[in-house]
Amino acid sequence: MKTLKFKNGDVMPSIGLGTWKSGKGEVKKAVKIAIENGYRHIDCAATYGNEAEVGEALSEVLKEGTVKREDLWITSKLWNNAHKKDDVIPALEKTLKDLQLDYLDLYLIHWPVAFKPEVAFPENDEDYLSLEEAPIIDTWNKMLEAKKSKLTKHIGVSNFSIPNLEDLIEKAAEAPEMNQVELHPYLQQNKLLEFCSKNGIHLTAYSPLGSGDRTAEMKAKDEPSLLENKVINNIAKKHGASPAQVIINWDMLRGTAVIPKSTNEGRIIQNLASTGVKLEKEDLQQIAELDEHFRYVTGEFFVTKGNSYNDIFNEQ
Ligand code: A2P
Repeated sequence: MKTLKFKNGDVMPSIGLGTWKSGKGEVKKAVKIAIENGYRHIDCAATYGNEAEVGEALSEVLKEGTVKREDLWITSKLWNNAHKKDDVIPALEKTLKDLQLDYLDLYLIHWPVAFKPEVAFPENDEDYLSLEEAPIIDTWNKMLEAKKSKLTKHIGVSNFSIPNLEDLIEKAAEAPEMNQVELHPYLQQNKLLEFCSKNGIHLTAYSPLGSGDRTAEMKAKDEPSLLENKVINNIAKKHGASPAQVIINWDMLRGTAVIPKSTNEGRIIQNLASTGVKLEKEDLQQIAELDEHFRYVTGEFFVTKGNSYNDIFNEQ
């Protein structure tokens, strides 16, 4: 299995199972199927609303002896309403309780945006905390504390642009080890990939398949379907692979981790088998030409006229 290596020697399996949008009643089964079929990396987040069910799956596979805890890589994320200094560790502890774990392998600040503690999802300007009220560096210092106290082995961020990272690196005692962002052939993130690799930060690709199962309100009109793209489909045919496998393999060849979401047994298995596809130089050249800087998850839902987040979602 392909892996990403961290500075302390820890290795993270490059392919993980995504759990965003995996509904209650199906995510437990999906996680069990994944682990029984060789996945060792599961990507979670408090805001997905399903960590307790993921926890049931983890507890069962560990009890059944399918896998040992040290062979799993579990990532979770701090939600935007727990950025205040005193809220970070309790939020991580709640996630650990839900996941039925003593520690995480990786904990990420989910977005560079803060809400008031009582707000799960903002509806107006008053629901936000400004960057002055909840400076990212304060949140980050608590993440460092969580790492020191071994609640998580590694820490990082998600949805951070180059300016967000530069700002944090300048102020922080330790830089993030990971940045998890939307990344796929329509949004290849070349500049961010280069910046992160220069600064020793790994990247994880979320929504790698274009997240076609987002709710209608999260979708733009006439957005392109990545899995139906002709170039990807032709390359897939040539290799006797599926379009999803081509994309996942492309991610791994570029040295990022990738977390395709599925709750379907056949597709969960198929996605892990992407390692077997042998993409050629000309395939990679054709995929490189697909970059349209097109974002499926725009983050626009966090930008209101009155808050201070208007210029943080610039080109990553
Ligand atoms: P399902 O869960 O029914 O398999 P993303 O990872 O970009 O968020 O995309 C998730 C979407 O892609 C889901 O709708 C998921 O459906 C679908 N999907 C996952 N794996 C595959 C695959 N191998 N082929 C086609 N669609 C897939």
